[in-house]
Amino acid sequence: MEKKFKRTLVTTALPYANGPVHIGHLAGVYVPADIYTRYLRLRGEDVIMIGGSDEHGVPITIKAQKEGVTPQDIVDRYHNIIKNSMEGLGISFDVYSRTTSDMHHKTASDFFRKLYDKGEFIEKTSVQLYDEKADQYLADRYVTGTCPKCGNEHAYGDQCEACGTSLNATDLINPVSAITGNTPVLKETKHWYMPLDKWEPKLREWILEQHKEWKPNVYGQCKSWLDDHLQPRAVTRDLNWGIPVPVEGADGKVLYVWFDAPIGYISNTKELLPDTWETYWKDPETRIIHFIGKDNIVFHCLIFPAMLMAEGSYQLPENVPANEFLNLEGDKISTSRNWAVWLHEYLEDFPGKQDVLRYVLTANAPESKDNDFTWRDFQARNNNELVAILGNFVNRALVLTHKYFDGVIPAAHELLDIDREALAEFKNVKETLGANIENFKFREALKDAMNLARIGNKYLADTEPWKLAKTDMERVETIMNIALQICANLAIAFEPFLPFSAAKLRDMLGLDTVDWNKLGEIDILAAGKAVNKPELLFEKIEDSVIEAQMQRLERIKQENIINNFKPKAVAPAVTIDDFAKLDIRVGTVLECSKVKKSDKLLEFKIEDGMGGRTIVSGIAKWYQPEELVGKQVCFIANFPPRKLKGVESQGMILSAEDAGGRLVVIGPTGPVKPGASVG
Ligand code: MF3
Ligand code: ZN
Repeated sequence: MEKKFKRTLVTTALPYANGPVHIGHLAGVYVPADIYTRYLRLRGEDVIMIGGSDEHGVPITIKAQKEGVTPQDIVDRYHNIIKNSMEGLGISFDVYSRTTSDMHHKTASDFFRKLYDKGEFIEKTSVQLYDEKADQYLADRYVTGTCPKCGNEHAYGDQCEACGTSLNATDLINPVSAITGNTPVLKETKHWYMPLDKWEPKLREWILEQHKEWKPNVYGQCKSWLDDHLQPRAVTRDLNWGIPVPVEGADGKVLYVWFDAPIGYISNTKELLPDTWETYWKDPETRIIHFIGKDNIVFHCLIFPAMLMAEGSYQLPENVPANEFLNLEGDKISTSRNWAVWLHEYLEDFPGKQDVLRYVLTANAPESKDNDFTWRDFQARNNNELVAILGNFVNRALVLTHKYFDGVIPAAHELLDIDREALAEFKNVKETLGANIENFKFREALKDAMNLARIGNKYLADTEPWKLAKTDMERVETIMNIALQICANLAIAFEPFLPFSAAKLRDMLGLDTVDWNKLGEIDILAAGKAVNKPELLFEKIEDSVIEAQMQRLERIKQENIINNFKPKAVAPAVTIDDFAKLDIRVGTVLECSKVKKSDKLLEFKIEDGMGGRTIVSGIAKWYQPEELVGKQVCFIANFPPRKLKGVESQGMILSAEDAGGRLVVIGPTGPVKPGASVG
């Protein structure tokens, strides 16, 4: 690590307190930030990790309104869930506070006022949609209407979810207020804007020239924003939830959530270190690192830095290692659609398995592209890697030590080539693993750590101490000493990644503390000292456990399909004569069977009161053949016959198409003579 910095300030994106934290947040932000911070602590560096809940913004007020509670109720609920679950996963914040705290309100308010007094804002009047009945301006999310691009009638004021276009509420055709259902009117309102255009040259120089080392996804996004040129951005809103704008005549206006939230990093540092917080923000020898997801890049790399430059006394971040997104079983994670693995639920469903989740999310982290979390991969990584490689090696080393030496660490004697080769294989682990973490390559770093366990397993397999135990105990002593030293190396190397297992391993080895500088060495454990009884570090996860999780997701998928069902538009008008042309009848199903070589078609023999007929229908996906025998159905009797997979079909059975395309056969609600006409 360059010696340029005396201390490190790690910030983690403040999660919105409008829902719990899920695996996407963890993989993108909290797990990598925690690895990085734990690593620096292990090296004895001065580092603090800042977290907290982001408790302002429109989504929180919308959720409160939906539930008929106050925004404060919502943020209290989720702040607690988030804080407790993060702690449960071992995310080692030095402070986890919230943006509704007094400290934050004051800090953000003062920050705004300082910029205001320095003349760093421009004031602009614009027209916004206003709900006269509710007597308030409408945030974009509070307006729905018809999308001007695609005609979807249920578009939101900020985005049309049908075509993906981002919108302004004033673009919508026939806008409707989500609060009262009224048609809003246009009304003038004054706001304060950050003139980002003014800071563009400085931002260009700072990022594009001085930070070419940033991750390509981050650098690239910044470059594209800068190349498109920055516009002034409003930093205030008409809303009754947030930090009041500290200016005369700004009643009913609050700071924009993206103005106040990043200042939360500063407020929370103050809360942690009331006397020395400034050194962490203002001394050039502090390295500031922002851990965030890719949707936060513009705010952390352009807008917040512009705010800091305008303020004048703060340091800019040294790096912003933003991650891409994690998907879940192939679909985008979504709080509103409940498509997520929630951390607090995971901790309940998998007690004691925090490290398994930490491992899987790191091994599969979306560092350079979006990635997918699947329960099958979770199971495979646990069973084939944590259990079979890491757990297995540690267990073997300890069990053999107990078996041959009553749990006392034996001394090493003369080394052979086979020993020297194994040791040479991990001599450089400290440098490579450290460099990977420092360069935010956590997946690679985890592989480096895992490689130590692989070396250990191979070493035991190659030296076969259990065979030598009868003939050459001195040799067994050397081998087991080396194996235990490798275990001690694992206790160091895995501490940033798997802190719970590393602690267990330290316990088993009788180590009170570990020292990063010892990584790669083979004199960590002193011969003659005792190790404790082995405990399994990991256990196999059975299919049934994984299947239960997958079934839960399947249920959510079905619920979403049903909840999102919207009837399609009514077809153009027809006359009664048009209708009369269709001859619809009731018939009774006599027989039903699958059509050969087709997984869609069922063949029906129908009693139609006219001598019977055969009808082929594409509903095999939804019905077992025997289910429909004896039932009465409606069918169209005057379609010309046609062949389907070699069977002649004389009509069409009617069915309703439910949400998700499921077909349900239509019949009379009471018994009717076969052949009766429907009209
Ligand atoms: N709440 C935001 C999100 O979840 C992140 C805020 S980060 C901060 O996307 F810098 F503003 F705090
Ligand atoms: Zn649209």
